[in-house]
Amino acid sequence: MLDTIRIISGSAHPAFADQICRHLGVERCKTRSLRFSNENILVQIEENVRESDAFVIQPSCAPVSDGIMELLITIDALKHASAKRITAVLPYFPYARSDKKDQPRISITARLMADLLETAGADRVLTMDLHSPQVQGFFRIPVDQLRAAPILCDHLRDSRDLSDYVLVAGDVGEAKEIGGYANRLNLPIAIVDKRRDGDDEKPRAVALIGDVAGKRALIIDDEIASGGTLMEAAAFLQKHGAVSVEAAAVHPVLSGQAVQRIADSPLRSVVVTDTIPLTPEKQIDKIEVCSVSQLFAGAIQAIHNGSSISSLFR
Ligand code: R5P
Repeated sequence: MLDTIRIISGSAHPAFADQICRHLGVERCKTRSLRFSNENILVQIEENVRESDAFVIQPSCAPVSDGIMELLITIDALKHASAKRITAVLPYFPYARSDKKDQPRISITARLMADLLETAGADRVLTMDLHSPQVQGFFRIPVDQLRAAPILCDHLRDSRDLSDYVLVAGDVGEAKEIGGYANRLNLPIAIVDKRRDGDDEKPRAVALIGDVAGKRALIIDDEIASGGTLMEAAAFLQKHGAVSVEAAAVHPVLSGQAVQRIADSPLRSVVVTDTIPLTPEKQIDKIEVCSVSQLFAGAIQAIHNGSSISSLFR
C-alpha cells in the first residue's frame, strides 16, 4: 500500500492544483522553484515525500519550454527524495500536435516528451483529451487519458436550449471525436473540410459536409491555439446559413491574437475548460470556463486507490 497522496504543483497552473487539493481534502506539498541568473532552474521539495504517492500538476502553457524543464526537474527531485510513485499530471500535453513525421527531417516531439518524462522518473501520466490517440502509445508507462466531453456537455445542456443546434467538427480530424458529443447531446453533426498549407496558421475551409442552414452551429474542437481554425469555420458556417455560431473546446491555448480575434468575431460564446490558465487579459465575457479539476481529483484518488478510472465517466 502506498503512503499518502502528495500534490505538487509546478509554476504553470497552481490555481488548478489548489482546486484539486480542495476536492481531495489535502494540502498542497510545499516546494520552491528558483530561476538563477544563468536561467538554470532549481526545484526543492520542502516536505518529506518518502514512500509517498506523488502527483505533479503541470499543464503545458507559456513559457512552454521552461514549464517542461521545471516539470522534469520536479520529477527528478521527487525521485531523489524517495517518492514511491510519481505521476506526471499534464492536463494539456506539451507538443501534442507534433505527433507524426509528416514532413522530411522533423522531430516527433510528442514522442520525445514521452521519453523525457520516463527518463526523468515518471511512473505514470494523467492527461486529458490528447490531440491524437497515438500519443498514448508513445509511452511504456501507463497513461490515463481523461475526457472533457461529459463536463462540457453537462454545461452546454444546463446553460442553453439546444433544440435547434447542430454540432460542427472544425476539421476532419475532430470528426471522429464529435460523435461522443452528439450522442450525449442527441444532436446532428456537420463537418468542415479544413485544409492547411504546411505549418501556417491560416487554415482554409473548403467544403461543408452536412447542413447548418437555419440552425445554431456549435463548433467542437480539442483546442483553440491561434484561433485560425475557429475563425475560418465560424465565417464558413455563417456563409452556409447558420443563424448563430458558438464554440466549445477542451484546451484554451489562446496564443497570439486568439482572444482579440474571438472578441471581434461574430462568435456568440466560446466554452472551454481550465486545463490551461487564463491570464486576466484572456478573461473576456464571451469565454465561459468549465472546471475539470474535480474530474482530475477523482482520477488521482482512483489511481491512488487502484480503482477504475473509466467508472468516473459513467
Ligand atoms: C487541429 O487539428 C485542431 O483540432 C485544432 O483545430 C487546432 O489545433 C487549432 O489551432 P488554431 O487555433 O491555431 O487554428
